[in-house]
Amino acid sequence: MTKVAIIGTGPCGLSMLRAFEQAEKKGEKIPEIVCFDKQEDWGGLWNYNWRTGSDQYGDPVPNSMYRYLWSNGPKECLEFADYSFDEHFGHPIPSFPPREVLYDYIIGRAKKGNLKNKVRFNTTVMTVTYNGKNFEITSHDKKNDKFSKDTFDYVVVSSGHFSVPFIPEYPGMKSFPGRILHSHDFRDAEEFRGKNVIVLGSSYSAEDVALQCHKYGAKSVTIGYRNNPMGFKWPNGMKEVHYLDRLEGNKAIFKDGHKQEADAIILCTGYLHHFPFLTEDLKLKTRNRLYPPKLYKGVVWENNHKLLYLGMQDQFHTFNMFDCQAWYARDVIMGKIKIPSSSEIKKDIDKWVAMEEKLENPDQMIDFQTEYTKELHGLSDYPKIDFELIRKHFKEWEHHKVEDIMTYRNKFFSSPVTGSVAPIHHTPWASAMDDSSKTFLNQSKK
Ligand SMILES: Cc1cc2nc3c(=O)[nH]c(=O)nc-3n(C[C@H](O)[C@H](O)[C@H](O)COP(=O)(O)OP(=O)(O)OC[C@H]3O[C@@H](n4cnc5c(N)ncnc54)[C@H](O)[C@@H]3O)c2cc1C
Ligand SMILES: NC(=O)c1ccc[n+]([C@@H]2O[C@H](COP(=O)([O-])OP(=O)(O)OC[C@H]3O[C@@H](n4cnc5c(N)ncnc54)[C@H](OP(=O)(O)O)[C@@H]3O)[C@@H](O)[C@H]2O)c1
Repeated sequence: MTKVAIIGTGPCGLSMLRAFEQAEKKGEKIPEIVCFDKQEDWGGLWNYNWRTGSDQYGDPVPNSMYRYLWSNGPKECLEFADYSFDEHFGHPIPSFPPREVLYDYIIGRAKKGNLKNKVRFNTTVMTVTYNGKNFEITSHDKKNDKFSKDTFDYVVVSSGHFSVPFIPEYPGMKSFPGRILHSHDFRDAEEFRGKNVIVLGSSYSAEDVALQCHKYGAKSVTIGYRNNPMGFKWPNGMKEVHYLDRLEGNKAIFKDGHKQEADAIILCTGYLHHFPFLTEDLKLKTRNRLYPPKLYKGVVWENNHKLLYLGMQDQFHTFNMFDCQAWYARDVIMGKIKIPSSSEIKKDIDKWVAMEEKLENPDQMIDFQTEYTKELHGLSDYPKIDFELIRKHFKEWEHHKVEDIMTYRNKFFSSPVTGSVAPIHHTPWASAMDDSSKTFLNQSKK
């Protein structure tokens, strides 16, 4: 019997499990599956962890989520085609849910299946090697401090790529009297109440961590971009300046001459694709981009078609794109999709990479990833979902952000699965301090 290893049970690993489960429900004989996750439960980043640094076993904590995180895109854009929000919550809910609500949704679908028995929790994959015929995986059961070796025909890498921070150093950091942390270790903006905070970076973490600090009462928030400013209309108390030059004592001095006293510096400088468990011949090496090279259809490792990667792209589309990838990966593993010749694979990868390199603005990037996801969708029996509506929603969302970065999360969208329209949330995001599921879901019926 074919044996498949799935590394990670975040949203991508759960999509993979679901894909196999759906095939089994249709009467198909599925491979034997073993999942590994180094955390004690599934959900990946969405399984919030107060810990930073290492866990109780000395293993690095993969989690980068913070306590008061809300979805930064409309939930309608990430909805599962086979498990709608309406089905999970029993009625339409607002478009920008907090972390706890989205976690409940992701886990809700997984719990419908008999899947947990396939997962070895608290188990870190230490090494993956290929011997020309199959893969050998060494894993560490952290709780019982036991190492195991298993052999597999296929390996699916769904270990995420927002867990290992990229941490640059700036002159003066060694003598800075305040706190310096990476967004990976940011858990709660409350600790920055009344403080002058510097945020470095100009992508989603910089945007949202800066907004969190402002929302929870930071005295000032100064964002230092490196290449391109985000350029939003920031509220009073927030500003965006050009690139940190150095720190002198507690003063941050920027390349545009701007000076700012600082109590804390939060590095929102992105993450590394880091796969210490893979040998060099199997290892994806890429920056965070929409089409990492060497992955056919964004999934199949060019040099070994028995190795599949999920979710390694920079992401506009998330959960339903992961599903499309997982359904595709499943059909490759089950022999329903034939992989073409090496030259055709190379041609296809080169085509997508060349297109990606020409992208100039968010609208084009949204189009690019929508086209990619639609192509994958067409290659499997993943249920119907309106990607044209999702494309439209993403563009509208981008424009809402430009209009007002403080209010874009108060908008509402329609479902690409059920067509239902989300209700307006009872409290605008900027003043919603209690974001528990109970409070968020209360009164959200239309
Ligand atoms: C701060 C932050 C906020 C985000 N907010 C949103 C959002 O609002 N909306 C959205 O759609 N997306 C958001 N994302 C994007 C996020 O990438 C996806 O939502 C999703 O979590 C990716 O799923 P994944 O399965 O690829 O990875 P992860 O969620 O990272 O899961 C990977 C899993 O692999 C396990 N693992 C890793 N290494 C090993 C190993 N060696 N052995 C065993 N197990 C291993 C980990 O324990 C983890 O459970 C956010 C990302 C970050 C960092
Ligand atoms: N739900 C939410 O609200 C939420 C919140 C946070 C994050 N997220 C998600 O988390 C994921 C990761 O986002 P991310 O912003 O952490 O990573 P990212 O999108 O990869 O961006 C990395 C940023 O780091 C900057 N950078 C890198 N090196 C730098 C340096 N030496 N000095 C200054 N800046 C530097 C880059 O700037 P250049 O452009 O100049 O290279 C870029 O702005 C995304 O999928 C995002 O959607 C979601």
